[in-house]
Amino acid sequence: MTRAEIDKNDCLVIYEDQFSNYHLHPLWLRERVTDPEFLDSNNYQRLYEPSLITQNITIKNFSIEKEILKIKFSDGVEGSFLLNVLINELKQKDIIPDKKPWKNEFENLPIYDFKSLNEAKVFLDLLSDFQELGFVIVKNTSAEEGTVVKFAEMFGPVRTTNFGKHFDVVSKPQANDLAYTSLGIKAHTDNPYRKPMPGIQILHCISNEAKGGDSSLVDGYAVAEYLKINEPEMFEILTTTDVLFKFVDKDIILENYGKLIELDHNGKYLQSRFSGRLDYVPYLEPSQLEKFYSARKKLFHLYESEEFELNFRLDSGMLMMFDNIRVLHGRTEYDVNTGFRHLQGCYIDHDSTEGKLRRLKSNL
Ligand code: OGA
Ligand code: ZN
Repeated sequence: MTRAEIDKNDCLVIYEDQFSNYHLHPLWLRERVTDPEFLDSNNYQRLYEPSLITQNITIKNFSIEKEILKIKFSDGVEGSFLLNVLINELKQKDIIPDKKPWKNEFENLPIYDFKSLNEAKVFLDLLSDFQELGFVIVKNTSAEEGTVVKFAEMFGPVRTTNFGKHFDVVSKPQANDLAYTSLGIKAHTDNPYRKPMPGIQILHCISNEAKGGDSSLVDGYAVAEYLKINEPEMFEILTTTDVLFKFVDKDIILENYGKLIELDHNGKYLQSRFSGRLDYVPYLEPSQLEKFYSARKKLFHLYESEEFELNFRLDSGMLMMFDNIRVLHGRTEYDVNTGFRHLQGCYIDHDSTEGKLRRLKSNL
């Protein structure tokens, strides 16, 4: 049972257990009153300006019954709070699952049958897997052109780029990107030159009749965690050196800088960037550059290693959806004389998958 008391600063102290307690400012609680007078019940948005509440507001009295906290404030307002909701907010606990790093050792791949995605539970499982693993594979869609956009719009709006709403991955002459040739492409993140990078990529296979053209995925998060433990010096230089990424064609020049492994202010993994086709390492003192190049080489070999890289083949009607800032993708070379290969791709934002998952989980 949760206990509470008022401390000498007029804050409400909540004792969650013997180890955790929170000192809650009365104004922090007052802002969270949810009565219809204060909160619009259609959109859960505040109907008043919280900055105008008197700052020296106090708690006149409170009670806790069946894990519901009731408070009467000094301005006469009364509010009730579900303690578990308050505590989840205090712990910044998100309803969506954390990332789970993975290696190439799946017993079961996260493969979904398109035909069963109309069941809410299956759709929710797909979104949870996507959140944890950073990718899912879907089979039995259709071989029709345009499927990729229809699929993407099940989650949210497509992010149009200078390649269009979707792009056609076929081998063509004078291609403005190596993806549109039959060359093999090693593990990479797409478009690290954009601000911001496309969050999620979907690649749908219309035809894969040529010899070669197999797909690969590798978890940038798992590789980053591996380096952090096993090669701390390499990890340090990869997480602190800004590299320029650049795209050039006749219409546009796109540029952005970023680390090959980016961390947040607490040193927690944020994202990967890797594209050996379009990176420009900065000017560094030669001894530093030497270290950077060794680290990048190590990273490259980990990305293509049997331990980390997952290899499979997309057949007609299959698609893969992956977190483009975490999971790198690639393909083997293919021979255009042995059959036709055509994929269509597009991008969506993390807001869509995260937001849909939060919505579905909150409905449960
Ligand atoms: C791409 C790409 C992979 C493939 O278009 O970004 O990496 O399998 N394509 O053709
Ligand atoms: Zn790509």
